[in-house]
Amino acid sequence: MTMLDVENLSVRYGAVRAVDGVSLEVEDGEAVAILGANGAGKTSLLFAVVGVQRPVAGRVSVNGVDVTSTGPEEKLRRGVCLVPERRQVFDSLSVEDNLRLGAYVRKRLPRGQVTGEIERVYELFPVLGGRRTQSAGTLSGGEQQMLALGRGLMGSPRLLMVDEPSLGLAPTMVSVVMEALARLSSEGMAILLVEQNARMAMAIAQRVLVLERGRVVMSGSVTEVRSSERLRQAYLGV
Ligand SMILES: Nc1ncnc2c1ncn2[C@@H]1O[C@H](COP(=O)(O)OP(=O)(O)OP(=O)(O)O)[C@@H](O)[C@H]1O
Ligand SMILES: [Mg+2]
Repeated sequence: MTMLDVENLSVRYGAVRAVDGVSLEVEDGEAVAILGANGAGKTSLLFAVVGVQRPVAGRVSVNGVDVTSTGPEEKLRRGVCLVPERRQVFDSLSVEDNLRLGAYVRKRLPRGQVTGEIERVYELFPVLGGRRTQSAGTLSGGEQQMLALGRGLMGSPRLLMVDEPSLGLAPTMVSVVMEALARLSSEGMAILLVEQNARMAMAIAQRVLVLERGRVVMSGSVTEVRSSERLRQAYLGV
């Protein structure tokens, strides 16, 4: 079953065509990576998919239902969650309160279940478990990224979209975040991962798309894309 179906999506900011007729699919449980340089349109694409940015053309369907004109809350109700670039956590709130807020969208969730899901996040990111009462603003960049992911998971998504989780993180932190994504993927969560770090993205994804100036210029399985000379030169530095 197709979890996410994006057809011919376009985003414009005035005269700028940030996303220009992009189509992509993410199947249930599949991990797909979107690679592309700065300004390629990756964030704009995710914003249009989740409904933060209104597309000028195209269609977004979740499990076969057209949800193009709905906002992020409706997407979340349908199991699609975006963890945005630059990890927005609530600085003055504790780690645990940030996680609780992630469950807020699911209004009728019993208290016991929220606690259980918080514990699952701590199990995925033990470092957060040791810092439950610490205010989020005082966490390191890597810890904030883990918290942003954890908060997204509290909405119990079936498709997790993540925008450049490796940005500005030390290599060890990148590994922790990537291992968590790999684990979620192996447990059956669908993932749409936007990255400039191609190596990392391809360690998780089964399929890859490359965006250039708002267009998909290459797509295929990780094996196919790895063997592409052009991609190797552009993104792998070899
Ligand atoms: N709010 C906006 N108003 C005008 N132009 C914008 C806006 N947001 C993005 N753009 C432009 O749209 C294009 C795509 O930007 P976008 O942020 O989607 O790229 P990106 O691939 O996510 O880049 P990065 O890797 O730097 O995050 C860029 O040319 C950018 O300057
Ligand atoms: Mg971006």
